[in-house]
Amino acid sequence: MSKPRLEGKVAIVTGAASGIGEEAVRLFVENGASVVAADVQDELGCRVVASIGSEKVTYRHCDVRDENQVKEMVNHTLEKFGSLDILFSNAGIIGTLTGILDLDISGFDDTMATNVRGVAATIKHAARAMVAGKVRGSIICTSSVAGLIGGTGPHAYTASKHALVGLVRATCSELGTYGIRVNCISPFGIATPLSCAAYNLKPHEVEANSLALSNLKGTVLKARDVAEAALFLASDESTYISGHNLTVDGGFTVVNHSSSAF
Ligand SMILES: NC(=O)c1ccc[n+]([C@@H]2O[C@H](COP(=O)([O-])OP(=O)(O)OC[C@H]3O[C@@H](n4cnc5c(N)ncnc54)[C@H](O)[C@@H]3O)[C@@H](O)[C@H]2O)c1
Repeated sequence: MSKPRLEGKVAIVTGAASGIGEEAVRLFVENGASVVAADVQDELGCRVVASIGSEKVTYRHCDVRDENQVKEMVNHTLEKFGSLDILFSNAGIIGTLTGILDLDISGFDDTMATNVRGVAATIKHAARAMVAGKVRGSIICTSSVAGLIGGTGPHAYTASKHALVGLVRATCSELGTYGIRVNCISPFGIATPLSCAAYNLKPHEVEANSLALSNLKGTVLKARDVAEAALFLASDESTYISGHNLTVDGGFTVVNHSSSAF
């Protein structure tokens, strides 16, 4: 039998109480990792961890907008599990659905604070721990198809997800010196509490909308599929992949949807 893909590795997952983050926590533990599951939804996060029922996973409150909480989360991980190999910086919000003519500037700031500043803080403190521990770690961020093209989400969200792609490229340059890889994942629309609440739709309605807009027909994207991409980037199977933006979008962002030539 082949050994588990994350055996002996320690991971932090942010936004772990729900959706993609929850699935990543489950998959990382199934694959042998010890995981700190971090979120602001404490009751839900504790429920996720309890349902996994393993000593290899623990819940930690962390609001990624607060750098001190991020630093404490990383320290907690080192105290509990002894090192840090993987950061899945996945927490994000979609923000308010206003156009530019009615842009809610404070809402714009909120989206940036979580989706960009929060991710930068997690990369900073995780990378410090990896450098200090001489760990050739893997950092993965969750961007979006909205990080590649306009018109798929609110303006602040689109700007924040584009910024993440830049942050990943910038930090991959600096952290490559230490053997640390930095990548991001850009999913297409998935039915999670984030998308259902944003558009006031039920999960099956979000899935129906995504299917109608999709390039790859007949397959509904699930949070688990995105977690599988994160597992690949976290594992030694992606050992020379850094600075990459792995789209999990069925080809959506490389096809011209206004042309029906073929
Ligand atoms: N659902 C989609 O269609 C989709 C598509 C592309 C990218 N994404 C991205 O995937 C990531 C996960 O979203 P999801 O769809 O699983 O949504 P979700 O709402 O199910 O999960 C997001 C989690 O992040 C947590 N969170 C929010 N703000 C936080 C903060 N300040 N600190 C810590 N945790 C915080 C929430 O409590 C929640 O548990 C996000 O970055 C999102 O932008 C989602």
